[in-house]
Formats: sequence, structure tokens, C-alpha cells
Amino acid sequence: MRLSTLLLYLPLALAQAPVKSGDPILFGESGSYPRAIHLADGSLLGTYTRWDVNNHTLVTVHSTDSGTTWTPHGEITTEPTATHDLDNPYVHHMPNGQVLAAFRNHDRDASGWTHYRIVVCVSDDLGKTWRYLSTPAEMPAGPGIWEPFMQTSLDDSIQLYYSKETGPGGQDSIVRRTYDNGATWTEEQVFSGQDTNARDGMIAVAPLADRSPTKVAIFESGDTSKNPTEFSVITVRTNDDGATWEPTRIPVYTPSGFSAGAPQIIRVGNRLVASFGSNELGGTWPEGALQVMVSYDGGLTWSDRTTVKERPAMWSGMIHVDDDSFLALYESNGTCYAQKMVFQSA
Ligand SMILES: *[C@@H]1O[C@H](CO)[C@@H](O)[C@H](O)[C@H]1NC(C)=O
Ligand SMILES: *[C@@H]1O[C@H](CO)[C@@H](O)[C@H](O)[C@H]1NC(C)=O
Repeated sequence: MRLSTLLLYLPLALAQAPVKSGDPILFGESGSYPRAIHLADGSLLGTYTRWDVNNHTLVTVHSTDSGTTWTPHGEITTEPTATHDLDNPYVHHMPNGQVLAAFRNHDRDASGWTHYRIVVCVSDDLGKTWRYLSTPAEMPAGPGIWEPFMQTSLDDSIQLYYSKETGPGGQDSIVRRTYDNGATWTEEQVFSGQDTNARDGMIAVAPLADRSPTKVAIFESGDTSKNPTEFSVITVRTNDDGATWEPTRIPVYTPSGFSAGAPQIIRVGNRLVASFGSNELGGTWPEGALQVMVSYDGGLTWSDRTTVKERPAMWSGMIHVDDDSFLALYESNGTCYAQKMVFQSA
């Protein structure tokens, strides 16, 4: 085979959809919004919002067998559901050994939300016990702030991402940084949505390689000129670890006449994997099925759309297991599950 022919066929040989490995595993009972990260000791730390009888409780779960089994681990915080809206937990292991949890912690009464916060708690024992640390963002009069996500910068500061409503139909992507392990936070930096009146929301960010300054941020974007609003999945890129962001909005998936949203993004070996919910296969948005797509060129193009779980599969998260497999986490009918997905070598 001539080299030019080989090069022509190579991308086809690499392109490959992930397949399910085994049945879904119980991640957490009676709740939603599952997320998980790797701890430095090799175990996995998960979190979700548990729906107790009168309270919403943000809890942690733990796996010492690469996600094959999960056990209840700790409680981050709990508040009465009637007066508080605790949800959207995300955990992050800092280089100093402490673990942060960021989440939304809004006040509410019978008329709706009355005070909006992104709150951060800290754990000194790998996610078992927690104490309050800081409130990086607060909007007493609203509109809202939602869905925090964290990662470590190349300079070992911590980046906190979240979505901020700007008015009717508008929502922007924000990043703030902490240089003192979560005690104080820099001013907000807006990096998507500032030029549009779209609803950009539910951010996650993945680097193209270990310690790469090029990172891809994924979010849903709602076109509010349509009724009902239709959501699609979009990315933007930074080449300097989030200091500046390219204005180009690269689409991942835009279903025609349906919605795709609540995305996440992770790196699995040399691929990027994006997940999202979609009502294309049935369901009343935001209810739908969980799908993933794969990029082999650093997020410029996306293919191999695969259904992980038919509806209902909501508010999913993902975590890589090794260079060829990952767990897709989702809530179905009030229980959180982990489905292992594998890229089989050709
Ligand atoms: C509900 O939350 C409140 C406030 O944190 C707490 O005092 C109470 O113990 C919680 N109830 C349960 C059953 O966890
Ligand atoms: C959903 O959960 C409820 C209660 O937890 C149960 O009664 C119902 O059968 C479940 N529905 C499905 C489709 O599994």
C-alpha cells in the first residue's frame, strides 16, 4: 500500500463508536446529577443530589475498583427542600490534597427562587467530611447562576466554571480562579454568550492532552427565538489555559426540530467524548435519551453518535477509566447509574 493510500484510510480505521460493557451499575439511590472524578490515590470520588424526605442532600460516593462498584461515602451539606434549592454538585481534588465541592445553593419560597449562590465546601479526608469554605458567586436579586465545574490550571490555581443568566433568554459562560485553594476567587471572566442572546449553559471543559493549554469547553445553547426554545450542543476553545477564548462556536450536535443539551466532555486516550441528553428518540424536553459522540481531531468535528441509554436518562456526567473506556453516569427515574463504555481496538 502506498503511503498516501494508507494516510487516506487511517482516519476511517481509527473512527469507532464506543460500545456498552456490561449492565448499568448502581451509582446512588434516590437522586440525580451524578458526577465523578479521579482521586490521587487511584480511587474514584462521585457526587450527586440525594432527595431525602424533607431535604435535598449533596452526598459523595466512592469506588476503589475503577467504578465497578460504588458505596455511599459522605455528606457535603443538607437543607430543607421547601426553603432551599441544593443541586448541581461537582467535586475536584486539588494539588494540595484537599477536595473541593462546588454547587448551587439557592434560597426559595413558594413563589420561586429568592437568592442565588454558588457555594464551595472543602474536605480534608478525600470527600468523607466537609465544611463550608466560600461563596464565589452570589446574586441576591437574581437572575440565576448554575452548574459549577472545576479543574486545575497549569499554574496549579483552580478554575471554577458556571453559567450566569443575564436576562430574559440570555445566559453566559463564566470562569473564576482561586490562588488560595478556594478561600477567595477572582472576578468573573465571561467567555461565551456575551455577543448573543442565546442561553449558553451546563459547562464542562477538557484539555486535548495532559497539561495541554488547549482546552475545549462544551455547553448547551438555547435558541430562544424558537418556541419552544431548541437546544443544541456547542464548544469553544482556548489555547492558553482559559486566559483567552476563540470566538468561533463549533457545533457538536444540532438536531433538527428537537433539542440536545446538558452536555459533558472528557478525554479518553487520544479522543474527546461528548455526552448530551436529547428528545429526538422520545421524551418531553429536558427528558430524553443519553447519547455520546466522539472527536478524533481535538473537537473540530464529531461523529459516531451512540445511544448509551434510552429515555429517561437525565443530567449525565462522564469519567474516563483508562485510554479506551469511560463511565457514562446518568439518572433514570430517580436512581443514578454508571454505564461502562469501551472503544474496542480494531
Ligand atoms: C435538613 O437540613 C437541616 C439544615 O441543614 C438539618 O438541620 C436537618 O438535620 C436536615 N434533616 C435531615 C433529615 O437530614
Ligand atoms: C419509577 O420509580 C417509581 C418509584 O420509585 C416506580 O414506582 C416506577 O415503577 C418506576 N418506573 C419505571 C418505568 O421504572
